[in-house]
Amino acid sequence: MAIKAEPGRSTSKAAPFQIATTITALTLASATLAENTELIDQGEYVARASGCMSCHQEDLSGGYEVETPMGTIVASNISPSHQYGIGGYDRDDLANVLRRGVSPDRRLYPAMPYASYRGMSDADIDALHAWLQNQEPVEEAPEQDTDLPFPFNISTGVIGWNWMFLGERDLPLADDPVLQRGAYLVNHLGHCGECHTPRNDFFGMQDDQYLAGEMIDGWLAPNLTADPESGLGSWSDQDIIDYLRTGQAGNVVQAAGPMADFVRHGTSHLEDDDLAAITAYLRTIPAIATGVQDIPLLPSQSERLDPAHSYGQVREEIVAVLTSANLSEPEQLYARHCAACHGVTGQGQPQAYYPPLVQNAALRRADANNLLQVLLHGVPAGKLERVPAMPGFAGELSADQIAKLANYTRSTFGSRPDSALTAADVTRVLTHEDEMPAPLRTLQVLAWVGVAALIVVVGVMIWWIARRRKTKLQEG
Ligand code: HEC
Ligand code: HEC
Ligand code: HEC
Repeated sequence: MAIKAEPGRSTSKAAPFQIATTITALTLASATLAENTELIDQGEYVARASGCMSCHQEDLSGGYEVETPMGTIVASNISPSHQYGIGGYDRDDLANVLRRGVSPDRRLYPAMPYASYRGMSDADIDALHAWLQNQEPVEEAPEQDTDLPFPFNISTGVIGWNWMFLGERDLPLADDPVLQRGAYLVNHLGHCGECHTPRNDFFGMQDDQYLAGEMIDGWLAPNLTADPESGLGSWSDQDIIDYLRTGQAGNVVQAAGPMADFVRHGTSHLEDDDLAAITAYLRTIPAIATGVQDIPLLPSQSERLDPAHSYGQVREEIVAVLTSANLSEPEQLYARHCAACHGVTGQGQPQAYYPPLVQNAALRRADANNLLQVLLHGVPAGKLERVPAMPGFAGELSADQIAKLANYTRSTFGSRPDSALTAADVTRVLTHEDEMPAPLRTLQVLAWVGVAALIVVVGVMIWWIARRRKTKLQEG
């Protein structure tokens, strides 16, 4: 752009000076603009790496329900709406939420993973704040309300939890810069331990069992330590990177539950270097063997079968098998309900994102919980990018039929000849309700006993005062 002095007014001595200041101002303005855009972009990246949108949604309207054994805690609207969201937050308000679990008007429950975000750097909080305040406000509250019973509905109780669990954590450290970046992404932004680390009876993360696996919202978040059977020991670096980027690795493992949400809204947006840093750091976590896993979860690279399937093959095979007279009950169930997508011989149709069942990790895992979740509830379309839906069978098949299908597929395709799941196992996953740990139940009972005692004390006081008044009146 050329700035010209108008010919008729060019006699003014000030003109060149004015032009110079205009140019300087313009340059400065565009430099700040560029800086701001950079800061906002960095903030979006921090939000991705931290999985904020897994719980607060892509439009930041909130509403995700975190299921805890005490009840449901709903993620808030964190769009910049002044009425419903965090439009009034300054940068320090956000820092207080992320590091201490304290918002300007209340204490938050640790369902908001501030115990991990605590370690977020100042620069990342600045950027996150800039990005959050630059999004579209959503002018409505989440549909559901947090629903917790007494005394857990009094959030001041969280002070006790913070006092017990917000102190120094004992996490594996690193000195190499790549590992340090990986540690920061795993321990703080990615808050992997919030789901993958076993918790004690008061829901504090047990650092001596760091990333050894835990149940979350009815799903098993598996062992991420280097153990070769139950952990990531049998995974190649590329398997881990692919899984975090796409939710699938090597046609043998797919994310379908809470991890699929985190991949979609979070890790799939990360840069290659960061995925490699996460993987490198996970490799340094000491192996902890857990559970009953007896074969490596993933077959080694050289053992993996190439899922070969040709166009039209699946349909021909199904026609052939359905007209065959001597099928066992599980074979019939499989042919009727599963083979159209996964193929009669479990070869799948990987080009169309229908995974092979042969060698599938969901079938090789000794703990059948996540498999039963998938068979009961299916996987909605788009849970992972481009992946079509798998229907759930909870309405269509009985618990007994689902157990038979699980046993059949585990032994036929998953190298688990001993699979003996029953209808009761299926019902347990279907109606899963996390039990409140005993100490918390005791706390709840004690709180009610306290309330009852208080009522009695107040009652006695009223009675006593009334009696004294009466006596005084009689005396007077
Ligand atoms: C595991 C789910 C989860 C993730 C991930 C998560 N949050 Fe939250 N967040 C919650 C829940 C649940 C609440 C409400 C807690 C409560 O009501 O006590 C909440 C509350 C908040 C609040 C308080 C709003 C208010 O009501 O005043 C802010 C701000 C917030 N989150 C920001 C973030 C940011 C920024 C990120 C990413 C860095 C993030 N959250 C990631 C679950 C999550
Ligand atoms: C909201 C809870 C949650 C968070 C946060 C989370 N995960 Fe997961 N993760 C799960 C669950 C549940 C599964 C089981 C599969 C599923 O959900 O589909 C899983 C599965 C995995 C698997 C596959 C393991 C296997 O044996 O199949 C890997 C690898 C993994 N997560 C890595 C990570 C890493 C790395 C992070 C942090 C950057 C992370 N997860 C954060 C819940 C979580
Ligand atoms: C309409 C197609 C369709 C049908 C029918 C179907 N599936 Fe699937 N299935 C899928 C898709 C798509 C996925 C991948 C989901 C993902 O990536 O999370 C999948 C995933 C799976 C997985 C891996 C899940 C995981 O957590 O890793 C198993 C095991 C499975 N299906 C078994 C079955 C069985 C058994 C049946 C019959 C009862 C069946 N499927 C019927 C489409 C289907």
